[in-house]
Amino acid sequence: MLEVLNHPLITHKLTLMRMKETGTKDFRENLDEIAELMAYEVCRDLPVRPIDIETPMGKTTGYELSKEIVICPILRAGIGLLDGIRRLVPTAKVGFIGMYRNEETLEPVEYFAKFPNNLDQAITMIVDPMLATGGSAIDAIAAVKKRGANNIKLVCLVGAPEGVKAVQEAHPDVDIYLAALDERLNEIGYIVPGLGDAGDRIFGTK
Ligand code: PRP
Ligand code: URA
Repeated sequence: MLEVLNHPLITHKLTLMRMKETGTKDFRENLDEIAELMAYEVCRDLPVRPIDIETPMGKTTGYELSKEIVICPILRAGIGLLDGIRRLVPTAKVGFIGMYRNEETLEPVEYFAKFPNNLDQAITMIVDPMLATGGSAIDAIAAVKKRGANNIKLVCLVGAPEGVKAVQEAHPDVDIYLAALDERLNEIGYIVPGLGDAGDRIFGTK
C-alpha cells in the first residue's frame, strides 16, 4: 500500500522546505510540523480495544490503543521526524538505526542499531525524510524484521518512484506513507525536484 498524504498544510510546508534559500531553522521547524500532520494520518488505522471506565457521570466503555507503537528513525535525517510524531503518540517507544549511503555505490551501510524489546507485538514505524533508491529503507525494514517486527509502516517525506518500487518489491507487506511522490532520481541518486540533502539541511552540516 502506498499513500501520498495530499493535505494542503503538508504541501505548503513541504514547498517551503524545498526552496533552496530556506535555512536550517525553518527547514527543521517545517519538517517537525509536517511530521505531526503525517502522524495523524498514519495513525488513522491503529487498533483500539474497549476499556471499562467511569466518568464523573457514570460508567461507560472507552477505547485505548491496543498495540505498542515503536518509532524507528533512520539516523541521521530520520531524527527530524521524531519529535513531531511523538507529540501525537507520546507513549511510543523509540528504536534507532544508523545508516548512511556510500555516495559512490549508493549502497546503505549500517553503523548503529538499538531497538526496544518485543517488536513482534508492536506497530513499527520506520521514519526517514527521503526515500531515494530505497536501499536504506529496505535494509532498515530488514533490520527490524530480524528482531521480530511484523507490522511495519514506512513514513517518508519525499519519495522517488524508483525507491517506492524497490521497497514494494523487497517488502510487499509494508505500508508506505509519503508527503510527496516526486519525479525521479538523478544520476547521483538524489531525488528530483526533491529538497537536496535532508541530513545536511536539518543539521546545517553543509
Ligand atoms: C539519506 C536519507 C536516507 C537515504 C535515502 O541519508 O536520509 O536515509 O539517504 O537514500 P536511499 O533511499 O538511496 O538509501 P544519508 O545517507 O544522506 O545519511 P544522513 O541521514 O546521515 O545524512
Ligand atoms: N538523500 C537525501 O538526503 N536526499 C536525496 O535526494 C536523496 C538521498
